[in-house]
Amino acid sequence: MKKPSLLGAVSTKQFLQDYWQKKPLLIRQAIPDMQALLSKEALFELAAREDVESRLVTNFAPQWKMQHGPLEVLPSTSKKNWTLLLQGVNLHDDQADALLRQFRFLPDSRLDDLMISFATDGGGVGAHFDSYDVFLLQAEGKRRWRISAQEDLTLQENMPLKILRHFVPEEEYILEPGDMLYLPPHYAHEGVAIGECMTYSIGFRAPAWQELGEAFLEFMADSIALPGRYSDPILKDGAPPAKISDHLLESVSKELHKLASTPDDIAIFLGEYLSAPKATVYFDAPDKPLTAARFAAAASKRGLALHRKTRMLYRGKHVFINGESFQPERSEQLILAALANLRVLESGQWEAASADMRESLYGWYCEGWIVLPSAAAAKAKS
Ligand code: SIN
Ligand code: CO
Repeated sequence: MKKPSLLGAVSTKQFLQDYWQKKPLLIRQAIPDMQALLSKEALFELAAREDVESRLVTNFAPQWKMQHGPLEVLPSTSKKNWTLLLQGVNLHDDQADALLRQFRFLPDSRLDDLMISFATDGGGVGAHFDSYDVFLLQAEGKRRWRISAQEDLTLQENMPLKILRHFVPEEEYILEPGDMLYLPPHYAHEGVAIGECMTYSIGFRAPAWQELGEAFLEFMADSIALPGRYSDPILKDGAPPAKISDHLLESVSKELHKLASTPDDIAIFLGEYLSAPKATVYFDAPDKPLTAARFAAAASKRGLALHRKTRMLYRGKHVFINGESFQPERSEQLILAALANLRVLESGQWEAASADMRESLYGWYCEGWIVLPSAAAAKAKS
């Protein structure tokens, strides 16, 4: 059975054509019977962890404050006007990961993370704009959103967070559990909790050209090979000693032009860059890894799955996983593309894999990049 669309009456095609990166869309009951995936107690535990990016925003009169985690102590839930923000919850919880993956009608190269906010009555992060697209899904309780297409995006000075100097709301919506609001980049908005509430933000990434350019030069620096060095066996007598000669400049220019990148360099760079885990992400190797033979036996029974932290992409003959690139054989390209798209490898595909590919998959398992689905999950599927 086809899964119900998250976009309500709007088709994906229509959304991409008329709303994505263009204008807001409110979807009432995008997820009917929505229930929070994690209790507030579970969120508070995540906030105390070193490996979870968290922030506490308080608006206790007279000022806004922001504190970065790990957060061992939080204000009492009976106190108004505070918000806890947890970035990348999808990296730590399977259900959060599954929710994020429901947004794969947009490309993996753009999908970023699932942020969860918990707020007490009146809590929020002030009127602001984001540089990225966002879907704001109400998970529990109610939140009032006010939004504006205003062009004045100047920010208040000397604030611990980005707050608009002049917010002129144009529309207002109260979101209840399951309701969702899509906002394109740079759309002014302000969400205020009505009683305790939880909001899930599905965020996107759009690398800045400057950042991409710098990373590309680093990538090229790792791979350039310019053998030899400058020589001038025909130096002319009488030239001013401080002048850089035409010969030197021309020789260097000739060599540096050899550094021009090929389309393949760019594809490999982009795949490695986009599939690289964020600096804060670490993979856990299995505590007691199976031997290669036992792993093979388990994979041919249960298949394999990408770990929720794994980013896998492909382009033409190149396959990218967690910042590394491979150029597999044609038949393997198809199997790996299916793994990247479906995030699972069926047992039959394992059977069809070459010895080389099985060795790579076993290596990825030992790194914690892929996992064997639990026996129960595999049984439920069959
Ligand atoms: C929040 O959940 O409080 C903030 C989300 C946002 O405004 O982007
Ligand atoms: Co925002």
